[in-house]
Amino acid sequence: MKIFTSIVLFATVLFSCQNDQTPLSHYDTQLFQTMDQIDTEIDFSSFILPEDGDYSQFAQEPLNPMTPVKVELGKFLFFETGLGADAVQEVGKFTYSCATCHIPAKGFMPGTVQGIADGAIGFGTNGEARSKFHLYDEDELDTQGARPLSLLNVGYMTNTSWSGMFGAGGANEGTEDQWIVEKGTDINHLGLAGLESQNIEGLHLHRMHLDKEVADEYGYTPLFDAAFPEIPEEDRYSIMTTSFAISAYLRSLVPNQAPFQKWLKGDMNAMTNSEKEGANLFFGKAGCINCHTGPGLNNQKFFAIGVKDLYETGVAFATGPDDRRNLGRGGFTSRAEDLYKFKVPQIYNMANSPFYFHGSSKRSLREVVEYFNDAVIENDNVDKNNISAFFRPLDLTEEEITDLTQFLETGLYDPNLDRYMPKQILSGNCFPNNDLLSKFQTGCE
Ligand code: HEC
Ligand code: HEC
Repeated sequence: MKIFTSIVLFATVLFSCQNDQTPLSHYDTQLFQTMDQIDTEIDFSSFILPEDGDYSQFAQEPLNPMTPVKVELGKFLFFETGLGADAVQEVGKFTYSCATCHIPAKGFMPGTVQGIADGAIGFGTNGEARSKFHLYDEDELDTQGARPLSLLNVGYMTNTSWSGMFGAGGANEGTEDQWIVEKGTDINHLGLAGLESQNIEGLHLHRMHLDKEVADEYGYTPLFDAAFPEIPEEDRYSIMTTSFAISAYLRSLVPNQAPFQKWLKGDMNAMTNSEKEGANLFFGKAGCINCHTGPGLNNQKFFAIGVKDLYETGVAFATGPDDRRNLGRGGFTSRAEDLYKFKVPQIYNMANSPFYFHGSSKRSLREVVEYFNDAVIENDNVDKNNISAFFRPLDLTEEEITDLTQFLETGLYDPNLDRYMPKQILSGNCFPNNDLLSKFQTGCE
């Protein structure tokens, strides 16, 4: 079956190439062959992301089907600074949004080692100039002890967060005894997928509020009516429906314009030879595919690769050696075998951010590749017995390191993520931030 599929695909590509007068190069053939040898379960087409708007092809939660109007509503709400009513200080009210820490131009990551929403000011060009506001105490800040995850390809995550603690199904089957208030995971008892669950928690955690009055004030009521006609009116304008709309929007975030995606769909000129060599290493010699797989090159498995924690950067607030987040999945499950294991994150548009791994310990993709190549752990707290067997020296040459870095930097890079931003939000506020300094820096009135 596998061989048959690849022969068909191979023939299709050959045929389309002949039509376009683009012959397959040695680099293309080599990459096809390497991808064909990955695993009998995985075929070439399983890496192709769906086209924008073709929702039948997206990873969905059956309890929250994607519709165009719901995605549109979520697209507003994700950026809506008007939701920030529950700031701890008056001066912080309505100054932040989800996108404060998940900035599209930063691959939906922040522009700093650690995201800070309520309690910080500034945006700079792309989030890099956000810093603590002097009137806030450190313990008043909305900030977490791990770098915010990218939200691209998040639809492929049944269990969200670095520890996978959200979501009733998938990897969390059998963890029911840990769905407790103290761990912030009692939400899982609703039986929803990770995204829908986490975003309910996230809206509370990030000090946001929505009810009928707010929806009316900004003009969102008709959109809620169109998106949730089946939900009784008394429940229609709530944190729950806000989470559902935002989740539907987040499921739509796929970097399908990246050169690698174009190449997969038959445009043999979309990638450079160096990117193709890099991809060949990714799927072959370097073994990245052992962990980063599927359309989002992410995975619902958890591995320890021994990277440093966020407090070790020395510039992160409200975290330290005792932060439960440092324990990874083990901090959620309380099982020794899960300690220091983190979810395999998606890796498209990484070039947008200079902060890599959950503790922002690396500053360039080349450093990331070198870390995997050397396979020497940098965090002494991590129990070596839990380190993944896939984390082993790769013997890559300097040129191979360059090619693999190139594949990450430009081959897996969608240059057009702006399409996922609204032109304006209905409150008329500035976004993603609405504090005075951010407004000044973004030229928003
Ligand atoms: C203060 C910064 C901050 C703000 C504001 C913020 N996030 Fe996050 N987000 C994070 C951090 C940090 C993580 C990773 C947390 C962890 O895993 O421990 C994260 C993770 C996530 C994830 C999980 C992704 C995955 O692959 O598992 C989702 C989904 C998410 N955020 C959605 C949202 C939504 C929706 C909002 C607005 C309601 C929001 N975030 C606001 C910092 C932020
Ligand atoms: C053992 C499984 C495994 C293998 C093999 C692996 N990765 Fe990862 N990768 C992970 C995990 C887990 C993380 C997150 C670790 C953390 O932050 O604690 C990660 C993080 C990353 C990140 C940073 C993502 C972010 O959001 O900061 C990049 C980039 C990356 N890997 C690329 C690669 C490349 C390139 C290879 C091949 C050389 C590779 N990985 C091999 C498991 C793996």
